[in-house]
Amino acid sequence: AAIEKGNYRHYMLKEIFEQPTVVAQTLRSYLRPAEERVALPQIDFDISAIDRVTIVACGTSYYAGMVAKYWFEQFARVPVDIDFASEFRYRDPVLNPGGLALFISQSGETADTLAALKHCKANGQVIAAVVNVPTSSMAREADLLLPTHAGPEIGVASTKAFTCQLAVLAALAAHLAVKKGRLSREEEAEIVSHLVETPAALNAALDHDDAIAAIAPLIVPARDVLYLGRGADFPLALEGALKLKEISYIHAEGYASGEMKHGPIALIDEHVPVIVLAPSGPLFEKTVSNMQEVQARGGKVVLISDAAGIAEAGEGCMATIEMPSVHPLIAPLVYAVPVQLLAYHVAVAKGTDVDQPRNLAKSVTVE
Ligand code: G6P
Repeated sequence: AAIEKGNYRHYMLKEIFEQPTVVAQTLRSYLRPAEERVALPQIDFDISAIDRVTIVACGTSYYAGMVAKYWFEQFARVPVDIDFASEFRYRDPVLNPGGLALFISQSGETADTLAALKHCKANGQVIAAVVNVPTSSMAREADLLLPTHAGPEIGVASTKAFTCQLAVLAALAAHLAVKKGRLSREEEAEIVSHLVETPAALNAALDHDDAIAAIAPLIVPARDVLYLGRGADFPLALEGALKLKEISYIHAEGYASGEMKHGPIALIDEHVPVIVLAPSGPLFEKTVSNMQEVQARGGKVVLISDAAGIAEAGEGCMATIEMPSVHPLIAPLVYAVPVQLLAYHVAVAKGTDVDQPRNLAKSVTVE
């Protein structure tokens, strides 16, 4: 049967609002909350022997991989390489035995990612695939299939598949860390408790939909928009910029907050809105000082933070978007919501074809 939009104006909006449900659904396959443990599907290779991870993906799935790199290195202390599939294929990467090659794809059919997977398989890597379509080519080729349970995603610009990918990747990082003896029982329990809170936090983020819609008109006239983030939220800045480009056709760039002074700060004036992703946490002060560098040059900032962050740094911003206060581990999932909604409302205000943006395809099966 055809998938209905229900009361939503677009599939994309429906899919954004499905995230609490589908992330919970996905986490159910990867966590045993009662025992406070992560629980992966049966793995028939020795995961504790993995000493290197190579992540390959495209588009939004690539940004999920970038977040995962922070987690794998932080929890499991395993070095991670990450590439766009189109680059990986042709750079003759060094693939030593004992490596895990991890492919992330909503469709499981993206041509460049599939070709990279086959290349890794032929070169002795153990293949793991995080895919949303369990019957896809990548699912069939994988040694370790890690499905996301986002359900069919119709909007061309990926939303719910992304947060479900992050949920799986967080569980995988924790599992690898446990198997490598890098996480104590207590630390594992703590990670599980934060992940279990994600669906409620996503709901709390979605409650700000109206406020985000009210901010959209400030972005509509812009020709260029800059997104800034740090640490595991830096990839969310990239994803925010990608979402805006994809559906509103406004040029946007994501930048690591601390890197802004090495170039993009030259662009700052009152016509370039700067969206700052800064959840409270160890990196908050650093990001805020980068934000103040923008403001000192007349830049107009939209600060996305929690109540404490907004109380501390919200003054002088063009607008603020309040998120629930969450543990840094789950901030990348929660902060996906405001960047998706902001892009959505800007696109609606501009009258673009949100679900079928020009020149883009849901699944790119050509090189
Ligand atoms: C296309 C879609 C994007 C998606 C990318 C990767 O460009 O428009 O939304 O992120 O492909 O797709 P995949 O199915 O491999 O995740």
